[in-house]
Amino acid sequence: MKRYERLADTIAELIRTGILAPGERIPSVRQASQSYGVSPSTVFQAYYLLEDRGLIQARARSGYFVRSLAGLPLPEPQLTPAVPPTTEVGVSELVFSVLGSLKNPHTVPFGSAFPSPDLFPMARLARSMTSSLRNLSPHDIIADMTAGNADLMRQIALRYMVSGVRLPIEELVVTNGALEALNLGLQSVTQAGDLVAIESPTFYACLQVLERLQLKAVEIPVHPRDGIDLAVLRERMGSLPIKACWFMSSFQNPLGASLDNSRKQQLYNLLQEHQVPLIEDDVYAELHYGERPPMPIKGLDSEGLVIHCGSFSKTLAPGYRVGWVAGGRFTERIARLKLMTTISPSVPAQTAIADYLQHGGYDRHLRKLRHALQRQQEAMLASAARHFPKGTRVTQPDGGYFLWFEFPEQVDSLQLFRLALAQGISLAPGPIFSASQSFRHCARLNHGHAWGPDSERAMELLGRMLRSF
Ligand SMILES: Cc1ncc(COP(=O)(O)O)c(C=O)c1O
Repeated sequence: MKRYERLADTIAELIRTGILAPGERIPSVRQASQSYGVSPSTVFQAYYLLEDRGLIQARARSGYFVRSLAGLPLPEPQLTPAVPPTTEVGVSELVFSVLGSLKNPHTVPFGSAFPSPDLFPMARLARSMTSSLRNLSPHDIIADMTAGNADLMRQIALRYMVSGVRLPIEELVVTNGALEALNLGLQSVTQAGDLVAIESPTFYACLQVLERLQLKAVEIPVHPRDGIDLAVLRERMGSLPIKACWFMSSFQNPLGASLDNSRKQQLYNLLQEHQVPLIEDDVYAELHYGERPPMPIKGLDSEGLVIHCGSFSKTLAPGYRVGWVAGGRFTERIARLKLMTTISPSVPAQTAIADYLQHGGYDRHLRKLRHALQRQQEAMLASAARHFPKGTRVTQPDGGYFLWFEFPEQVDSLQLFRLALAQGISLAPGPIFSASQSFRHCARLNHGHAWGPDSERAMELLGRMLRSF
């Protein structure tokens, strides 16, 4: 990290913790230069960065001031409402029409599902691709196709071990991203017509997979901070023949909610009691802002009931389409399903990632990535507090790059989506995250892109549109 970025972070922390209050003057460039032992130009660069993040503003001939938050930070959304016991899923049309309109590269990408590609070490990965291909024997190219690249599988197993999960390498199947892992996982434990417990709201692809496999959703409400409502899940598992669960235990998409360890244990006990497998979607675990990665429910799995799905798409290599599944007692069925459909992800992509994990400095890259995402989250929260109308609520997750906004009841997020798109701003409207197309007054916004004047202007415009409802 550069010196001015460190200084900007120090001051941002003073603002975040309230030591520097809204409206208060921050130290002059000369004072800051003396007290932090850096040059005036470093202080200027730090202050410009804080201005871009929307945390301070310059006033002519008076210096820099902490921006007022137009009220205090926005409150947290409430527990999501009760939902019908079971729902036929049919959201694909809506999801495709929303996703199709996000493709324009000139929009402000608040609706995107990915962080900015600028945050990924693409040049270093390309070097890994070249050198690993040079060393790959023709025999390995064929061998790696079915099982997965052996080096990559070792590296993945090692990462599980470091996060405290012992995982035999034989449990791993390398897949085309997490989405294939999730598809195969669910397919291995269900048949058309079965009931599957899912979160509400949930990642829209989960709804599409259920739709494709003709499964019925049992939507379980999710608390915006604490995660899935275990009381409702317990009741549904007791009264309905649920065949599988599909949940995210950490940094849930779209809410960012995480179960703490005791709630993870309670959830696992329920699965054990009813012998229901869990498809655990864990693609954001490495994007934690705290010191340690959260423990997956897979870490508690003594019976092979958890099908744990991960990916490099969100942390390292979007577009390489490399993910994996640790399939527990369903591993063989999953591996066979994969052989019957896609056989394998591209071997060059696998070897490139394996080489990068060994030699490229993945942990250093992750530290920088998490840091950028957390700073950008602060900027978006501060901006929302300035521009969005009273009555808006928002999550504040400890990881990932999504914020979930609950707007005043009269706001129609599908209408907001259309208005915003016409002004070059994308967002993900609430109904695409629900089998019953609820959450009409909610939206998910992505803060995975560098914060700058365009982002600030887009938030201001969104604020004006929100007030027009
Ligand atoms: C929660 C969640 N699971 C899975 C995926 C799919 O991951 P991949 O790109 O590795 O297939 C995504 C991507 O948007 C996601 O948000």
